[in-house]
Amino acid sequence: MREGISGVVNIIENDVKAIAVKEFKAPYDKNRATYLDYENEVTTLTILSSYENDLPFEVSTILEHDLYNAREHSSDPIGFISMSALHAPLTGRELSAEAECIYKNQAVEAGKAVAKLHNIEISLKDAQKLKRNPVDVKVDFLKNHPMADQNKELIDDIVQKLRGMGGEKVFVHNDFHASNLFVDSMKGKIEAACDFCYAGMGIRELDFSFYTNYRDEFVGGYESISPNVLNTHNLDVMKAMELVFMKLNTDLELKDALDKLE
Ligand SMILES: Nc1ncnc2c1ncn2[C@@H]1O[C@H](COP(=O)(O)OP(=O)(O)OP(=O)(O)O)[C@@H](O)[C@H]1O
Ligand SMILES: [Mg+2]
Repeated sequence: MREGISGVVNIIENDVKAIAVKEFKAPYDKNRATYLDYENEVTTLTILSSYENDLPFEVSTILEHDLYNAREHSSDPIGFISMSALHAPLTGRELSAEAECIYKNQAVEAGKAVAKLHNIEISLKDAQKLKRNPVDVKVDFLKNHPMADQNKELIDDIVQKLRGMGGEKVFVHNDFHASNLFVDSMKGKIEAACDFCYAGMGIRELDFSFYTNYRDEFVGGYESISPNVLNTHNLDVMKAMELVFMKLNTDLELKDALDKLE
């Protein structure tokens, strides 16, 4: 989980409605990524609520949101968003072998869903409000990784490739992975998606950084809705980025294991 963001969502049930509350924790500082995360999730969910009929899946609506009056350098939460709760089961990260068929189908459905998300015609006015550059988010993740210093050349190289990707800009979720998707486990249908804090206007391939094991199914589902729009070079860059992350995470695990021995 990214440092500074609370991954905990408390779902509060009452007789009126169920709500989920997401807190953003970091020292209060407008330049900090967490502030941008908070601001971007509020903006994105607000905009998406006006495209309700075009959305391929349920998205929570904001019931209330606020920036706390936290003091500078305090570790208090900087803000919260209370939103309607999503109720379909959340997809886990681990995919068991027996479930292979179900998950393949789910990857196809996820591909179809994200293609439909990209097809939403966002007005110019709304697009201008979505100020966060989705590539900057990915670059930020790479550069702030705990193993970044030890892998500087590798990161500089992939960052250059990410920045070099071109193409038509559409609305991208930018963190489209199983743990942010709510799925009907029998049909594999994507019922809902959460975590829109990294979303924005960017090229389609940015939503292809996950689904490593079922990439062909994911791409197949996508192309059944939107054929001939994906750029192979950009898909390869995303694949390379995924491999860089895997290396960084493995390095970190190794370092942690060695540190424990000392
Ligand atoms: N509206 C919602 N209704 C129900 N559950 C939700 C809702 N929003 C988020 N969740 C649950 O809370 C988890 C964390 O929320 P979210 O992904 O938005 O936060 P995050 O701080 O970015 O955490 P992470 O780094 O784990 O992705 C989700 O994976 C999901 O299980
Ligand atoms: Mg999440």
